[in-house]
Amino acid sequence: MKFATAIAATVLTVTVFGVTAVVAQQDPIKTRQDLMKANGRNGGIIVRMVKGEMPYDAAKVKAAFDQWDETAQQFPSLFPDTSKDGDTRALPAVWTERAKFDAAIAKFKKDVDDNRAKAMSGLDGLKVALGAVGKNCNDCHEAFRKPR
Ligand code: HEC
Repeated sequence: MKFATAIAATVLTVTVFGVTAVVAQQDPIKTRQDLMKANGRNGGIIVRMVKGEMPYDAAKVKAAFDQWDETAQQFPSLFPDTSKDGDTRALPAVWTERAKFDAAIAKFKKDVDDNRAKAMSGLDGLKVALGAVGKNCNDCHEAFRKPR
């Protein structure tokens, strides 16, 4: 009997964790918006460094590139069909032109990876890297995000 109770408890625990995972999966809109907000915060830090409003800080540059890379890796799975509607600024083009959207994510990831060493080399390199990476933000938003 004790054994059965232990099993029941285990099943319950697994179920509860399973449900938590499903809930996270079911809110891809919030997940992708949170990632993008972090993109924006990091973008702001890099822009301030480039403008000379903040000293060059290699640790912060690395953190920004790490976070952008992480976003690019997670992004492809955060636009299921069920997340077209709701409190989202994603345009229908994300779903009607999926191959283009996926290509934009892949290009973002490649430009982040290709410009990381340059950005880490100092302020001059960071200026060039920001131009290359930042273009992805604007291009993708123009094609796939509703204007405010
Ligand atoms: C491959 C496409 C793509 C790229 C690249 C991209 N974004 Fe976005 N971004 C989106 C989409 C789509 C949304 C709308 C998400 C939603 O509302 O569901 C968004 C939303 C945002 C938001 C608003 C978040 C909120 O809900 O408040 C910010 C800020 C943002 N992006 C910043 C950036 C920055 C900075 C970069 C570049 C470092 C970037 N994005 C690169 C597609 C992209």
